[in-house]
Amino acid sequence: MSEREWILLNPGPANTSRQVREALVTPDLCHREPEFFEVMRDCRERLVRLSEAADAFAAVLFTGSGTAAVEAAVCSAVPPDGGLLVVDNGVYGDRLLRIARAHDIAHKALSYDAATPARPDDVRAALREDRRLTHVAVVHHETTTGVLNPVAEIVRAAAVEGRRVLVDAMSSLFGEPLDVTQDGIDFVMASANKCLQGVPGISFVLARRQALEALRDRSPRSVYLDLWNHYATQEQDNTPFTPAVQVLHAMRQALRELEKEGVRERITRYAENARVLRRGMAALGFEILVPEGARSSILTTFKLLPGIAYDPLHDAMKRRGYIIYAGQGDIRKYAFRVSNMGTLTPADMQGVVEAFAACRAELQAAGSGR
Ligand SMILES: Cc1ncc(COP(=O)(O)O)c(C=O)c1O
Repeated sequence: MSEREWILLNPGPANTSRQVREALVTPDLCHREPEFFEVMRDCRERLVRLSEAADAFAAVLFTGSGTAAVEAAVCSAVPPDGGLLVVDNGVYGDRLLRIARAHDIAHKALSYDAATPARPDDVRAALREDRRLTHVAVVHHETTTGVLNPVAEIVRAAAVEGRRVLVDAMSSLFGEPLDVTQDGIDFVMASANKCLQGVPGISFVLARRQALEALRDRSPRSVYLDLWNHYATQEQDNTPFTPAVQVLHAMRQALRELEKEGVRERITRYAENARVLRRGMAALGFEILVPEGARSSILTTFKLLPGIAYDPLHDAMKRRGYIIYAGQGDIRKYAFRVSNMGTLTPADMQGVVEAFAACRAELQAAGSGR
């Protein structure tokens, strides 16, 4: 088996190291034995340490995809008489709204089109207008397009208005700078299989302990996604439900590797990956959907070239070992996504550009997509 069978340009699950994948093969282990709890505690402590969140925060693990952590945070954080302001500029902002609706949480949407970052002044105005809104939920990196929302400024605006913030940092934690301890932030949600470079199956909430304590006597809106129950049980080195034992072993290996590389260094590598990709794609004539200044360094949405449709482009790239990703919603008709997270290096991104060049030549010669 080769080291990397596919180069994954979808925004997670991302390419992982062989050591992370091999860590999945552990001796069978009971999830209520000290050997497992040691792995769980180690992962939780490493997450807090790598986020530079010190003792004020705790990591709460969920077996489930990223949405499990997002839904757990939203449905646990907002009190029965509270409300949620949702910043929505893409599929994941919309998902926050759907979660609020599903749990009958009073909410208001602050909506933008998919290529526009949220404006902190709008957040301030919305919070001043409606005192019922006790919390703000915002996606840091909208994976729909690669827009990076100005989370620090949004949190500042919310904190000045006395509100608490939940940040969906699913596709940005450890890939973009983010001060999770900033005054105003209570919960940050992410998963193992994106910039952490682990495998899918575990998501987590980095939570301010003080905000967790406030949940102690509250009736949960969900049985499985009760943040307090997971926190209180994990604090006692136990688990309320059966966790993904093997996935957690792989996550521990991914955390060790992140510690070895360094969070800052990983952020720099991703930024360099994006630079190589964007420079090469510009030379091939591909334009970027999101305006400069609003782009993350993790994902780029490129407009399709005239005469080359997405499906043949995807298939031509796949034949060369590269998995690109369709646009979401209407964007699918005119643009596609390329992520540069995971174990990819700038040299890999140069290979991606060369593959696009070959595909462009092949598809233009074939007159595909007409
Ligand atoms: C910003 C963001 N939030 C939430 C999710 C949901 O994650 P999952 O598909 O793992 O449930 C994703 C997944 O890509 C995401 O990018």
